[in-house]
Amino acid sequence: MKRSVLLIIITLVMLLANTSLLIAREPISSIEVPVKDITITVPSHFTTKKEPVSFSHSTHLPYSCIDCHHNWDRVSPIQGCMTSGCHEKLMPSPPTATPSKGKKVMSITGAYHKACRGCHREQLSEKERKNPKEAAAPVECAGCHTNTIPENEYAIESFTLPLGDMILSAPEEAYTKRLAVNFPHGRHFDQECQTCHHDWDGDSEIEGCMTADCHDQALPDESTGDINDPVNVQYYLTAYHKVCYQCHKDLKKQEKRLTKINMEAGKPAPAESKAPVKCGGCHNVEN
Ligand code: HEC
Ligand code: HEC
Ligand code: HEC
Ligand code: HEC
Ligand code: HEC
Ligand code: HEC
Repeated sequence: MKRSVLLIIITLVMLLANTSLLIAREPISSIEVPVKDITITVPSHFTTKKEPVSFSHSTHLPYSCIDCHHNWDRVSPIQGCMTSGCHEKLMPSPPTATPSKGKKVMSITGAYHKACRGCHREQLSEKERKNPKEAAAPVECAGCHTNTIPENEYAIESFTLPLGDMILSAPEEAYTKRLAVNFPHGRHFDQECQTCHHDWDGDSEIEGCMTADCHDQALPDESTGDINDPVNVQYYLTAYHKVCYQCHKDLKKQEKRLTKINMEAGKPAPAESKAPVKCGGCHNVEN
């Protein structure tokens, strides 16, 4: 009797463990992104020498998420940096240590210093290089390892980031000729968010493009349908074609230019751009 109860429990535990694994790998439709300051604390079993680092996630959100969350597949929840299998050890092994299994994976300190300080170094202006203490993006130890934890002064704690595909369609009042657009949001996350959300400051809710006073006009100005004319800046099509279509065309142009240069140098052609420029590459779903 006791044994069968035990068996049931074991089976249940295994089932539960299994389903949670499944859920973790299943693509999800959105994630919660923390706005505000994050204090990066290393696991408590390590002895540390420096103050923990607190940094504003918001100030950094306009950068590509992939700059920091470099292994994120853009369809699952984001894991912390010190999750098992990632950056687990505190310090790099001394060069004399016997190579271990996880040798190639960088230590916590190595990873953060490379990602954080690495980018900050690249940001240094000529003036800041001479006086690194003044750098807006700190490079000196005390700039990051400070005792002062900044105040959280943001109106929101987090926002919901839609992943995966979203369907973009014309406003109801518009007269449409084309199919709607199936837009893979997540596949664009290696671009800076502000490439498209150009008015976003990193610490407020993101508004849709066709929000009132943004690109909320369903029809072009009576004087001209030309989207390059400043009178049409609020026309929704201006926003979409000038941002989406334009970038895709630029990428195609770049690819052609590189192909020509490479051909003249006897090198293989560059990788083909995956950003569609044919109308049907974007306009391909029913509303
Ligand atoms: C400058 C580096 C940097 C950039 C850029 C960045 N993040 Fe983060 N993010 C972090 C760090 C560091 C943490 C804290 C991780 C930890 O505690 O292990 C974090 C935490 C998170 C978490 C919480 C993870 C958890 O453990 O619960 C989410 C979600 C997240 N970031 C999403 C994003 C998204 C989406 C973007 C792009 C819009 C982004 N981040 C851009 C550095 C960054
Ligand atoms: C892609 C470039 C980039 C990366 C990666 C990056 N930073 Fe920054 N960071 C900046 C820039 C630019 C500023 C200056 C922002 C401003 O104008 O105030 C900054 C500012 C800061 C500041 C000063 C004030 C503030 O806004 O919080 C701290 C502290 C900081 N970063 C810590 C970090 C930490 C910790 C990491 C790694 C988890 C990191 N940064 C990764 C570019 C970067
Ligand atoms: C751009 C931000 C940044 C700068 C500049 C920086 N660090 Fe760090 N450092 C971090 C982060 C983030 C961690 C990992 C998380 C933590 O310790 O809070 C870390 C971890 C460490 C650790 C291991 C943890 C501990 O407290 O013992 C040491 C030691 C360290 N840093 C020393 C330094 C020294 C020395 C300098 C100056 C030469 C420096 N750091 C400059 C961001 C920075
Ligand atoms: C990079 C993606 C992309 C490409 C390529 C693209 N469009 Fe669009 N287009 C959009 C988006 C996004 C909208 C706004 C949402 C909507 O109306 O479905 C739009 C809207 C339109 C509209 C207004 C709405 C309608 O259905 O009448 C027309 C007309 C249009 N596009 C024509 C074209 C033509 C013609 C081409 C090829 C020469 C083209 N588009 C190529 C993304 C694209
Ligand atoms: C290539 C352009 C592009 C990039 C890059 C991009 N987005 Fe978007 N995003 C869109 C479009 C288009 C929509 C749909 C807007 C609408 O419905 O009006 C959207 C919607 C959103 C929404 C939902 C807004 C609402 O109306 O509720 C959020 C939140 C968002 N994006 C956050 C981000 C963040 C954070 C990043 C950076 C990781 C990012 N986006 C990168 C184009 C982009
Ligand atoms: C800054 C450049 C840039 C902008 C802006 C941009 N894209 Fe893209 N787009 C890309 C790149 C690069 C890819 C290829 C991504 C990949 O490698 O999967 C892509 C891929 C796509 C695809 C995938 C086609 C497929 O199924 O293979 C669609 C659809 C698309 N973009 C539509 C849009 C729409 C709609 C917008 C505007 C809301 C937009 N893009 C804005 C660069 C851009």
